[in-house]
Amino acid sequence: MANLTVNGKAHDVDADPNTPLLWVLREWIGMSGTKYGCGIAQCGACTVHIDGVVTRSCVTPLSLAAGKQITTIEGLAENGNLHPVQKAWLEQDVPQCGYCQSGMIMAVAALLKDKPKPSDADIDSAITNICRCGTFQQVRAAIHAAASA
Ligand code: FES
Ligand code: FES
Repeated sequence: MANLTVNGKAHDVDADPNTPLLWVLREWIGMSGTKYGCGIAQCGACTVHIDGVVTRSCVTPLSLAAGKQITTIEGLAENGNLHPVQKAWLEQDVPQCGYCQSGMIMAVAALLKDKPKPSDADIDSAITNICRCGTFQQVRAAIHAAASA
């Protein structure tokens, strides 16, 4: 049995310790905002924060997440107020199909916490998430908009 805290709420999960955190979030806890893309840590669709650190949940076993604070896209807004990155995403019309966007937003939220005013080079090195719809220019514009909000 593993105890996880997801978006501030404790959960006891009776799953194999090797189960990927992504599966636990989606199938056991019912948080389907975090997406499955590649399953091999390449695309970033499954990005969450573990103790504030950006993490690809498809390759993170439950055993490594136990006892930690996990934040998913469902927990990014606070007290009903969207996170500045979510607001910028809406204002800049970033999502196309939307599939990659929860992971993208989680990665960007972590970047802005570390670097409140990232350069284009900072963005290129930190945001390696893949978007099949190719919204990369809008992503960059929205990151700068969120950074100056
Ligand atoms: S699903 Fe985890 S990085 Fe692609
Ligand atoms: S918005 Fe469609 S994959 Fe990124």
